[in-house]
Amino acid sequence: MSSIKNPYRPYPARLDNIKVETEDGNLKTFRIVLEDKADREAWKHTAGQFAMLSLAGKGEIPIGIASSPTEEGHLLFTVNRAGVVTTALHNMNEGDRIGVRGPLGNGFPVDTELKGKNIVIIAGGFAFTTLRATLIYMLEHRQDYGKITVIYGARTPGMLLYRDELEKWQARDDVDIHVTIDREAPGWDGLVGFVPTIAGQVAPSPDNAAALICGPPIMIKFTMPPLEEIGWTDDQVYLSLENRMKCGIGICGHCSVGPVYVCHDGPVFTRSQVQKLPIEY
Ligand SMILES: Cc1cc2nc3c(=O)[nH]c(=O)nc-3n(C[C@H](O)[C@H](O)[C@H](O)COP(=O)(O)OP(=O)(O)OC[C@H]3O[C@@H](n4cnc5c(N)ncnc54)[C@H](O)[C@@H]3O)c2cc1C
Ligand code: FES
Repeated sequence: MSSIKNPYRPYPARLDNIKVETEDGNLKTFRIVLEDKADREAWKHTAGQFAMLSLAGKGEIPIGIASSPTEEGHLLFTVNRAGVVTTALHNMNEGDRIGVRGPLGNGFPVDTELKGKNIVIIAGGFAFTTLRATLIYMLEHRQDYGKITVIYGARTPGMLLYRDELEKWQARDDVDIHVTIDREAPGWDGLVGFVPTIAGQVAPSPDNAAALICGPPIMIKFTMPPLEEIGWTDDQVYLSLENRMKCGIGICGHCSVGPVYVCHDGPVFTRSQVQKLPIEY
């Protein structure tokens, strides 16, 4: 038998737990366990990487890994019901089987460029997933980072992800969490306003700092001016891009944007790198 590993072969995996995250039921977090002990032991990912999830007879889709590398024994994926494959996944039950190929892409440079820096995490909507992984990783290695500030927004309180964890993080004194919703809502006594507005109010210092921003392109576009006004530069800002993918490993060219393959060279890029690409961010 050949010892060469086929990069297209998914690991057999089982849906271990399914949690409905949002009030509309369209976002669920899937806890997935790789079935073979050897695969579980071999799996090593970095916060910000993604995996290809495959459903027999439906297809294969790229999804960011929502669990931190420090959460061992399982993987978490938070999935928005968007179309064919995501709907099929939403219709599955605990115990059902899927395939997982990965980890793929580069991830955030948590053990290199970001070490020793003050970190600002800015997220909108369900793009918080890989930033959850990043935040948990950083909290587990708290001494490696300076001040950690999180700004996270959703449309309504019921659309916030990871609500139990948000409450726990808010109670800590070594991380500064700002959770906001778009408009006033009954029972909500937290921040109200769009993420870019709150980013302007929080005005995190750019000194020895890096910002990790994930969200819809429009949110990123409007978050940059208030940061630039207080001295943030494009080299300090990391974004995670999304694009249509097939192979996920830099071979088919499906995800190319100008000279880069988002799956292989990204999905994480600095804003300086993104500014050189033929897309608007
Ligand atoms: C690196 C990466 C990480 C991602 N992480 C997550 C995640 O953590 N959670 C999550 O819910 N989704 C994530 N996505 C998006 C996810 O891959 C798509 O929503 C999914 O492929 C849609 O598959 P589908 O068969 O359900 O939809 P389809 O039936 O293929 O399409 C339904 C609709 O979604 C649009 N669409 C399909 N694929 C994409 C895409 N790649 N980008 C933008 N729009 C698309 C289509 O144009 C169509 O309007 C990620 C994508 C990438 C590239
Ligand atoms: S998806 Fe094939 S090269 Fe990126």
